[in-house]
Amino acid sequence: MSIIQIENLKFTYPSGKQVLKGVDLTIEKGEMIGLIGDSGCGKSTLCHVMCGIIPNAIGGTASGQVRIKDKNMRETKLKDMAETVGFVMQDSDRMIVSSTVEDELAFGPENLRIPPEEVRRRVDETLELLQMTEYALTNPNHLSGGQKQMVTIGSVLTLQPDILILDEPHSHLDEESRIRTKQLLNQLKAEGKTIIIVEHDYELIEDADRWILLHEGKVALDGKPEEVKEKIWDFV
Ligand SMILES: Nc1ncnc2c1ncn2[C@@H]1O[C@H](COP(=O)(O)OP(=O)(O)O)[C@@H](O)[C@H]1O
Ligand SMILES: [Mg+2]
Repeated sequence: MSIIQIENLKFTYPSGKQVLKGVDLTIEKGEMIGLIGDSGCGKSTLCHVMCGIIPNAIGGTASGQVRIKDKNMRETKLKDMAETVGFVMQDSDRMIVSSTVEDELAFGPENLRIPPEEVRRRVDETLELLQMTEYALTNPNHLSGGQKQMVTIGSVLTLQPDILILDEPHSHLDEESRIRTKQLLNQLKAEGKTIIIVEHDYELIEDADRWILLHEGKVALDGKPEEVKEKIWDFV
């Protein structure tokens, strides 16, 4: 069974603005997806639906079917999604709440009352994956933009989600950090994670299995990057 199944999803914000107008989308376990489309077309809104923020925390009116792994989103509370979908939001620096990198990585699993020795194990493993072991006790605010990005990705990885959603993770990063982030995402894909990346810069999602173009509230194109690239000019 597909890990994400969305059928005829419609969503209107409390303000009355309808952003999603019948989204149909199926994503298989282990796929890497590039989610693209004009600014304001609803990419972040769709991410918020897939991680449960909408409509749980924002309100508004949703209809259609959203099934993530084995969960029907209509019946699932936001806190029960944390170990299924890891969400790295746009401007994710603002997600940092702790005064050391290791505390930041431990924050999520500690909140879920995972036993301390297991939290320690996950933190050490994640520090190694991020190549940031030497920064364990550093204040995240003293890190570079690229390193902060690593920490925010790490802080959801310690929850061991099956799905990772990143909303414009490369914006505001220098070239070296972009390459490093791209490498990390490829490594996570190789480990079997399902990854959805919202991105404007097509070069950064050239390794994705599929690109999905949102346009006027619906999926307008869905296919291999080279197939989507050929038709994209009809929509942008
Ligand atoms: N909380 C909100 N209330 C009302 N409208 C919103 C809200 N958040 C976003 N929007 C509007 O919904 C549309 C889609 O926004 P968004 O999903 O952020 O697009 P994208 O991420 O593709 O740029 C935009 O027109 C935006 O102004
Ligand atoms: Mg957005």
